[in-house]
Amino acid sequence: MSNLTSSYDALADAYHATVDPDGAGLNDPTFDELVGDLRGQRVAAVACGQGRDARRLADLGADVVGIDASESLLAHARDLEQQTPRGVSYLHGDAQDLAPLADASFDGVVCHMALMDIPELEPTLRSVARILKPGGWFVASITHPCYKSPAHGELVDHVEGTYRRISGRYFEEGPHNSATRWEILPRVAYHRTLSTYVNTLVVAGLPIVRMAEPLGDKPVWKEAACILWFRCLAQ
Ligand SMILES: C[S@@+](CC[C@H](N)C(=O)[O-])C[C@H]1O[C@@H](n2cnc3c(N)ncnc32)[C@H](O)[C@@H]1O
Repeated sequence: MSNLTSSYDALADAYHATVDPDGAGLNDPTFDELVGDLRGQRVAAVACGQGRDARRLADLGADVVGIDASESLLAHARDLEQQTPRGVSYLHGDAQDLAPLADASFDGVVCHMALMDIPELEPTLRSVARILKPGGWFVASITHPCYKSPAHGELVDHVEGTYRRISGRYFEEGPHNSATRWEILPRVAYHRTLSTYVNTLVVAGLPIVRMAEPLGDKPVWKEAACILWFRCLAQ
């Protein structure tokens, strides 16, 4: 029996009730665009939580394995799979080694909104590269490190009445306790600069081929991208 736990275990019911309680799956056009046509592909959803990204991948035609450190979130994912079967299997495991997943066994890997929650980036990305077949793809989304750095703030533009986001302690990498994080998320997250993300992806053999910085629909999101997306191709 693994003693792997997640800081999400205690928040699992609230997280589940907020993000996708009815199990419809992730609804995000940027996700769909970056993963592309998935028919006939085997895809791993790393740090899948209660499975909203895994369900969307299955609905787009993929054969999906979801893996996460939180047994409590996985219980919600498995319940939803039982209610509406999509053929997704859910495994308990650490993204930093992906030990239950075999080398070169996936056409694609997705890690949606989770790299900031995982303490060690390099072993995580090396594990992603390990399980990908040659030429496989990796799509990830993260809170935008330039706009949502530790202690970021917001400023009202008094001429236009619009919002600007102020970068906080951008160069302070590592764990940070963020009181302003969404209340369904653990207080501690791991901040890294943009160059750390890009350089670590390159070192892992996963160079970026595409990025996206969509603007949100809330007033404060119209001027600052909250989420940074990238698609990489395994070398
Ligand atoms: C913000 S949630 C995102 C979950 C899901 N991808 C989604 O979009 O709803 C972050 C997830 O990362 C998982 N996580 C954190 N550290 C992990 C690790 N070392 N290995 C696997 N999963 C981890 C958490 O359990 C949680 O499910």
